[in-house]
Amino acid sequence: MYKPVAEPFRIKMVESIKMITREEREKALKAAGYNPFALKGEDVYIDLLTDSGTGAMSDNQWSGMMLGDESYAGSRNYYNLVEAVKDIIGYPYCVPAHQGRGAEKVLFPNLIKKKGQYVLGNMHFDTTMAHIELNGGRPLNFITEKAFNTTEPYDWKGNFDLDKLEAFIKNHNREDIAFILITITCNSSGGQPVSMENIRGVQAIAKKYGIRLFIDAARFAENAYFIKRREKGYENKSIVEIVHEMFSYVEGFTMSAKKDAIVNIGGLIGIKEDEELLTAVKTTLIPYEGFVSYGGLAGRDMEALARGLRDGVNEDYLHYRISQVEYLGYRLMEGGVPIQYPTGGHAVFVDAKKMLPHIPYYQFPAQALTNALYIESGVRAVEIGSFLLGRDGETGEQLESPLELMRLTIPRRVYTNSHMDYVADALISLLDKAHELKGLDFEYEPKVLRHFTAKLKPIE
Ligand code: F0G
Repeated sequence: MYKPVAEPFRIKMVESIKMITREEREKALKAAGYNPFALKGEDVYIDLLTDSGTGAMSDNQWSGMMLGDESYAGSRNYYNLVEAVKDIIGYPYCVPAHQGRGAEKVLFPNLIKKKGQYVLGNMHFDTTMAHIELNGGRPLNFITEKAFNTTEPYDWKGNFDLDKLEAFIKNHNREDIAFILITITCNSSGGQPVSMENIRGVQAIAKKYGIRLFIDAARFAENAYFIKRREKGYENKSIVEIVHEMFSYVEGFTMSAKKDAIVNIGGLIGIKEDEELLTAVKTTLIPYEGFVSYGGLAGRDMEALARGLRDGVNEDYLHYRISQVEYLGYRLMEGGVPIQYPTGGHAVFVDAKKMLPHIPYYQFPAQALTNALYIESGVRAVEIGSFLLGRDGETGEQLESPLELMRLTIPRRVYTNSHMDYVADALISLLDKAHELKGLDFEYEPKVLRHFTAKLKPIE
């Protein structure tokens, strides 16, 4: 019996959520084209679509919002943010951006110097891939094969396969590779951590071949917590010490601050020492995101972000946070639901290929499961599989994702452990009906990032 860690906070304000009937949910999902992205938030009981921008800010963050200095240039809150980045990450330079993809849009054109250059990652997030491609680059993933076996336990399912990475680099011209990007934790493989040893290994390869190295830092604090819990030699280090070490191996980062920095909007670009790159980034930032001391954010947002960075590395909070995700995973496994094991930092990933083996990848089993869960319980999850992956750019063929996952993404400090029980019970109750669920076909399929706006219909 897994006993989750009790919440290290008390609740000062509550937001009511309504529970709509099954008939109302059926109507709402049909109107949404069987795509939960098109549901109204109000028609959802427990919203596990994403952990991005959905966290609850602390009283400290909210009080900081009242101290916004809305000067166009040189806002006090910008300087507070720079101080927080120095303290938490250990970097002297940073600029804000409105969110993670804003940071990618600004940094990447300064790194991808010619069309067709590769950007090597453990597993790039979808907007990251999109920004690499928009800049003429080619994203490639070098995640460990172990990530694709959901039932075999492995502590570091976010790690690079270092042999494959080095073999690829050896076989290509140095000028054909723009940079390497380490995503911590690795969202697309299940919010899975990257070990310090692996980060060091990637750095050694980058150094040997003279390739630039960056971090996609959306869930940096959760990654540091896993290192503390699982990696030998880090048991007695503080989270901030571990964070400093992780970032010491790379030359910069992009961050969606909507995750581990627990703000509803915000992003960052950090640079360790390259002043030339910093100048280039500032020059790109101004037309896209705004002047360097606000980068698309209000002063008050920067203050919440500065304080959220400090909240996000609090060890008691991280202990509770990771335990809540583990607890949901435990309940599901105990009930017989197949999941990516061990659970990751921000979500439980349900293996829909295993749960709905009768639905082929091109009829999107994880999307069918997501829809069934919503009808059953009002819980909104999200598909991470072939529906998200899309088609081959040249042949137009539907690609087959190695994993068909339904992500139950847990917002930070928002839902209680009884909400987790509700989600687990609902999903377990679907096990008996799983064989009756039907695959899906397109009614409308947009050309780019189709999963956001596509309309589907169940195959009768
Ligand atoms: N990098 C990673 C690893 C992410 O998970 C995300 C967003 C981004 C970059 C982009 O950041 O949304 O602030 O522009 N992930 C969200 C999710 C949307 O639901 O996983 P953003």
